[in-house]
Amino acid sequence: MEQGPPGIDVTVPSVARIYDYLLGGKDNFAVDRAAAEKLLELTPNAREGVRANRRFIRRAVTFMAREGIRQFLDIGAGLPTQENVHQVALREAPDSRVVYVDNDPTVLAHGRALLDGDGQTIVVDGDLREPEAILADPRINEHIDFGKPVGLLMVAVLHFIPENAERIVATLRDRLAPGSAMALSHVSYGDLDEEKIREGRELYKATSAGAVIPRTRAELLRFFDGFDLVEPGLVVTEDWRPEPGEPRPPRIPGVDGYAGVGLLR
Ligand SMILES: C[S@@+](CC[C@H](N)C(=O)[O-])C[C@H]1O[C@@H](n2cnc3c(N)ncnc32)[C@H](O)[C@@H]1O
Repeated sequence: MEQGPPGIDVTVPSVARIYDYLLGGKDNFAVDRAAAEKLLELTPNAREGVRANRRFIRRAVTFMAREGIRQFLDIGAGLPTQENVHQVALREAPDSRVVYVDNDPTVLAHGRALLDGDGQTIVVDGDLREPEAILADPRINEHIDFGKPVGLLMVAVLHFIPENAERIVATLRDRLAPGSAMALSHVSYGDLDEEKIREGRELYKATSAGAVIPRTRAELLRFFDGFDLVEPGLVVTEDWRPEPGEPRPPRIPGVDGYAGVGLLR
């Protein structure tokens, strides 16, 4: 069995490290790689899906910055990779301020190491299941001002929240000032049959997240209550404002991902 750094459990697959492995990263352990390989058997498009998801983050943050947003709250931020939210935001607007929130110790350790000394970006431990605690966190409130527009990102994380997800999103929304925006992406069922969905649920039960809950597009639309969805609406992730020259791999069987951005007037 591998030895992990102090405080990091390498016996339980971490959804952050599974995602890192699928992206081709190195911040993962044998238990994560085994879970990711099993996931690829169930949903062979998982690698393409995570890459498409990262491209969506770049486009969504660029959009928000061009809307004038200078503060970003990224909940379920994941392990640092390429084109992270702060890099995209700072490139568009050098005065941007970014808060990363995650509940995975590996993410917190790597994030803090990467950002050491960057006064514009902080990494905070927090749990999306407790949105009130995130909103009340003094470190977050010192770093961003909820009286001004915030770009809220919950990208590929709400499908790990089986209960109260609509209430959680509404709690966060209610704290946002007009001019704020929310970017979501989320796994849907795609062409998985009942048996694969069941096996997927079992797989994620054994991970750090403890559950996965794909949702239909109709269910996902409800998360945007109170927001104006910007064009093209809630669409398959690759179809959210693709830029010229972006890869459009042929459709591989597996789950679907949906993505959208809403503005608060
Ligand atoms: C699939 S990764 C997505 C990372 C990044 N948002 C992206 O889309 O590239 C999901 C992230 O959400 C985090 N996460 C899962 N459940 C969470 C919770 N209840 N509170 C905070 N973070 C959570 C995981 O630790 C992981 O880093």
